[in-house]
Amino acid sequence: MSLTSDPNWWRQAVVYQIYPRSFADANGDGLGDLAGVTSRADYLADLGIDAVWLSPFYPSELADGGYDVADYRNVDPRLGTLADFDEMTSALHERGIRVIVDIVPNHTSRHHEWFRAALAAGPGSPERERYIFRDGRGPNGSEPPTDWRAMFGGSQWERVEDGQWYLHTFAPEQPDLNWANPEVREDFLRTLRFWADRGVDGYRVDVAHSLTKDLSEPLPSWEELEAMPWDGTHPIWDRDEVQEVYAEWRKVFNEYDPPRVAVAEAWVESERVPRYANEGSLGQAFNFDLLRANFDAGAFRRIIDHNLTLATRSGSSSTWVLSNHDVIRHATRYGLPDAVSDDRGGYIVNPGAEWVKSRGSEPQLDRERGLRRARAASLLLLALPGCAYLYEGEELGLHEVCEIDADERQDPTFFRSEGVDYGRDGCRVPLPWKSEGVSLGFGEAPAHLPQPEWFADFSVEREEAEEDSTLTLYRRALSARRAWQGAEELRWIETGCDDVLAFARPGGWVSVTNFSAVDVPVSELGEEVARALGRAHLASREMRPDVVAAETTVWCAPGEDS
Ligand code: GLC
Repeated sequence: MSLTSDPNWWRQAVVYQIYPRSFADANGDGLGDLAGVTSRADYLADLGIDAVWLSPFYPSELADGGYDVADYRNVDPRLGTLADFDEMTSALHERGIRVIVDIVPNHTSRHHEWFRAALAAGPGSPERERYIFRDGRGPNGSEPPTDWRAMFGGSQWERVEDGQWYLHTFAPEQPDLNWANPEVREDFLRTLRFWADRGVDGYRVDVAHSLTKDLSEPLPSWEELEAMPWDGTHPIWDRDEVQEVYAEWRKVFNEYDPPRVAVAEAWVESERVPRYANEGSLGQAFNFDLLRANFDAGAFRRIIDHNLTLATRSGSSSTWVLSNHDVIRHATRYGLPDAVSDDRGGYIVNPGAEWVKSRGSEPQLDRERGLRRARAASLLLLALPGCAYLYEGEELGLHEVCEIDADERQDPTFFRSEGVDYGRDGCRVPLPWKSEGVSLGFGEAPAHLPQPEWFADFSVEREEAEEDSTLTLYRRALSARRAWQGAEELRWIETGCDDVLAFARPGGWVSVTNFSAVDVPVSELGEEVARALGRAHLASREMRPDVVAAETTVWCAPGEDS
């Protein structure tokens, strides 16, 4: 299958996120690599996805899993070479799969040549102007310029040898760039073209809502900063003028045929998401609302309606996400009591934190239930109009790994919070491809994050052989979804039952989800749903003619009357 030239290919695409260090290890060093992705191209094609998004694979000291980039136009030697990248891209393109790369524009690594030059050149130099350096307060400037806190804990300022301080929104190894500097803007345009010229189809833009900042004096205190509204004037987040940057990027995207696409990771007020998603800007933005919601019919319906309205407003398609490399896997979230999984605050949401901190020893997790609900939610998500983003391993129904010792952890959030925030390693454990072997088929060496024994039960090898496995479900769903082409619309069908959501898509497919813990008789769901269920095609759990089983989604094929 080759790529189509359709400029709208992305609107209803299924995009599969690969966390390269944890996907497949071809050279046997315990770290996943690009050749590993190439070696699994057939697996990705069989899954039926339209695109992969690769988390960063660039040279990095891995202070933040690769989101600390030392060279934006190269490949980390541990993960391969540019030639490996080209080979991977060709292998995927030959199979009709597009390639999306991660662009990290808010900060570089402290090992980026610009930051090294900034340190060498000293205060007041043009080299320092690419970053955000300030003098400190107090005697000899020994106190940071402000009391601001970094996202990963600790101060947001780090002092350098000559006494100045630099700003880092995340870890100290990730100095923030100065987006008021035209040189910074130019260089990113070069990076975008570099990858587009190599055949990349699109970009995922990391913390797209930061970049431009207003650090004019007097700087507010942390308390003041925290109280400021995110209305386009906040000194750090979601400033209106960040859109000027993306308008320039848009011109570069449109130099290509089909135009390159982008998706913003923008944790902003939902009313402001369309600013990033409109076609003059990045063109699409993540909607993280389902990822933050409980498994609850009312919440799902509100979120779906709201986001379809926002998508209409921006002219983009909506995006749907349940898991990614920053949050607890949804099979686990849904197995925890609701109160735990409903943390709506914060930038990186890790519902279930308390449970992971207790290393999963508390009896509150019901794994089976979590997986049952995850399968139902995933099937519902795949029925929605718009673009679905899947995270590697969710197609296996993988759970979060909490049994990682402190000395094996890698995430800076764990270290910088002295273990208070347990971090994101539990969703980044390398995939189990086989049920046996030193790293369960991931590679020839022990995996860089330890795989627990129970991972073998979720291996690709095992699930490929099982009719009712999660992998089989995803494959069938992605294949059936291809028939769901048509307008990006849905029509709710009233079921008369608060816990059961049903909707029809143009073309006549119907999706029915029972969110409750009890089976619901078909006869109670109204005539239209009952008729549709008579044409049940695929279900997240066993299909029964008389009931929609508890915590289950059923897809119904179009009938004569649809
Ligand atoms: C984004 C990434 C996250 C990273 C952070 C800093 O939120 O998804 O993994 O730590 O940006 O780059």
